[in-house]
Amino acid sequence: MHWCIAIPFLVCLLSAAVLVVVYNPNPQRPYRAIVSWIHRGAGIALIGLPLLAMVVNIRDTKVYLRNLKEGLLWSFDDVIWLMKMPLQMLRPKTELPEEGKFNAGEKLNFMMTTGTWPLFAVTGLLIWHSDSVVVPWLLHISLAAFALPLVMGHIFMATVNPATRVGLSGMWSGLVDRHWASHHYRRWFRENFAAAAAPRRRGSRDSDDTAPRPTRPRTWSVATRGVRSPPRSTADARPPVWSSPRACG
Ligand code: HEM
Repeated sequence: MHWCIAIPFLVCLLSAAVLVVVYNPNPQRPYRAIVSWIHRGAGIALIGLPLLAMVVNIRDTKVYLRNLKEGLLWSFDDVIWLMKMPLQMLRPKTELPEEGKFNAGEKLNFMMTTGTWPLFAVTGLLIWHSDSVVVPWLLHISLAAFALPLVMGHIFMATVNPATRVGLSGMWSGLVDRHWASHHYRRWFRENFAAAAAPRRRGSRDSDDTAPRPTRPRTWSVATRGVRSPPRSTADARPPVWSSPRACG
């Protein structure tokens, strides 16, 4: 699902940037039609591929619905988390409330994505098919200007920022590091995995995040991958550097 949104969105973004920077000053430049059709094709993919992913993986519908609910529902702790987060960047000892499966920053990003997706689609189709394009075009490029810093921030956090890029493995495998999750998504980890993880041996996989039953190994959960966990006996006494609460941010 994430790839089905991320790839067409990035193609839309890059092709739109070429249209704005290269062709808007001089629309007579060659190959404009090709770039324009790449943009339209990616736009159609952005509408169609996530729906296709949902139909193809219909058995994961419950996961989508639960993620949707988690992404859209805000608790008081989320609001506090959001207010304290800038403080914590300045003063790392600042305590934040425990996060659920998504922290408040991710919830904002999620709301932005799900909220602007239909608007991009409607305004894009209006530019394409209606006669008066000025209003939809203005809305469409305003949405792009609004989305750009959020997407850039999202990509920075996912690929560059050392404290958060640990979760990138989830994009390939659906799995993230156990210790990282236990520091970054504390309530989610505690409620779903802590008990299941406790009796486990080093290196074993976790259980399903829909039904945290320790005896049922499944993907789509938290597991130790890529970075190894320390032996359990030392983990509690001395967290490893990469996953200490401070190093994780
Ligand atoms: C969701 C589906 C989308 C559709 C159907 C769509 C469709 C279109 C169409 C038909 C145009 C006019 C192209 C031309 O002038 O030849 C356009 C322009 C544009 N689109 Fe999209 N688009 C979509 C998504 C996006 C996204 C995700 C972004 C940015 C993140 C974006 C940014 C832009 C920008 C900035 C322009 C203005 C280009 C210019 O001024 O020449 N679009 N779009």
